[in-house]
Amino acid sequence: MTSSPSMKILVVGGAGYIGSHMVRELIDKGFDPLVYDNLSTGHSWAVPEGSLIEGDLADTAALNRLFETVNIRAVMHFASSIQVAESVVEPLKYYRNNVANTLNLLAAMRQNGVKRIVFSSTAAVYGSPLSVPISEQAPLNPENPYGRSKLMVEQVLADCDHAWGLKSAVLRYFNAAGAHPSAAIGEAHTPESHLIPIMLQVASGRRESVTIYGTDYPTRDGTCIRDYIHVCDLASAHSLALEALLDDSGSFVCNLGNGLGYSIQEVMEVGRAVTGHPIPVSIGQRRPGDPALLVASADKMRSEFGWKPRFADLPSIIGTAWKWHQNNGYGF
Ligand SMILES: NC(=O)c1ccc[n+]([C@@H]2O[C@H](COP(=O)([O-])OP(=O)(O)OC[C@H]3O[C@@H](n4cnc5c(N)ncnc54)[C@H](O)[C@@H]3O)[C@@H](O)[C@H]2O)c1
Repeated sequence: MTSSPSMKILVVGGAGYIGSHMVRELIDKGFDPLVYDNLSTGHSWAVPEGSLIEGDLADTAALNRLFETVNIRAVMHFASSIQVAESVVEPLKYYRNNVANTLNLLAAMRQNGVKRIVFSSTAAVYGSPLSVPISEQAPLNPENPYGRSKLMVEQVLADCDHAWGLKSAVLRYFNAAGAHPSAAIGEAHTPESHLIPIMLQVASGRRESVTIYGTDYPTRDGTCIRDYIHVCDLASAHSLALEALLDDSGSFVCNLGNGLGYSIQEVMEVGRAVTGHPIPVSIGQRRPGDPALLVASADKMRSEFGWKPRFADLPSIIGTAWKWHQNNGYGF
């Protein structure tokens, strides 16, 4: 199929946290997005009116109908189950939704001659890194079913490129955080497992305290260090990746982080400064499989694709999330 700018960009999982910000970014960049989402963790209110097709990746008939009836230029694939701890106790759920359902999507793409995909991967594919910052060439050693399910899809994508010319941008995110500056959309996971929204639930009186899992890590203050990237900066990196694929760049893999590490204690301090709330913490045991230090080498997206993050500093990231929490009562 010859590609034309009037064709749709299919955003699978576009009713979720990151996908819904991507849809805004695509509209701003002049693309025409269409969301396919089963609303298992996403929200119809997060999708612009008229852009949502409610459907499941397990439904191969619905997927094929979609690809047969809509002119799709490229696919952006955000849909997956995302909780590391749940993946350890429910591995089949993760392999079914993240791997088997992705095969359905790829089969429909192949059947209908769609050969461009941007895929949401994760820093979890690296496991506990041997050194930081973590480059794209670092060993891949996921330590839980969630991370393994993402690595499996990365391998499937490479094999499909070899077999039938599927071109993929595999983007390995570090910790996504923040909200759209308009505060119209933001992070609304249930249950919430991410640190910054949990901290803001405390600041807005919805929880009593934040549990810090382990204070004896070999880091500057004993708590884990992570690399936080604003969700709108993630989205702008995705549109650069999409444009590269549409310009026939070929397949590539890229980390998405800021290259800056903040400890959990430092996140709490910034959270207290932004919200003016004392944000009490309680100390819990270390969780298995939590590496001490995860910081991206984020140079590739900047140097090869000209990516310039707008909200690289933690106060801006937490500030936009806080505005969302205050304006929307956590989205409900
Ligand atoms: N949030 C992060 O910090 C982070 C970090 C690394 C990677 N990722 C990846 O980014 C992607 C998006 O994450 P998110 O935080 O926006 O998650 P999310 O749960 O908010 O969004 C996922 C969306 O996919 C939909 N979905 C799930 N299974 C589906 C299916 N079978 N059929 C149709 N729709 C389905 C959900 O309804 C939801 O709208 C995921 O693939 C995740 O693994 C996220």
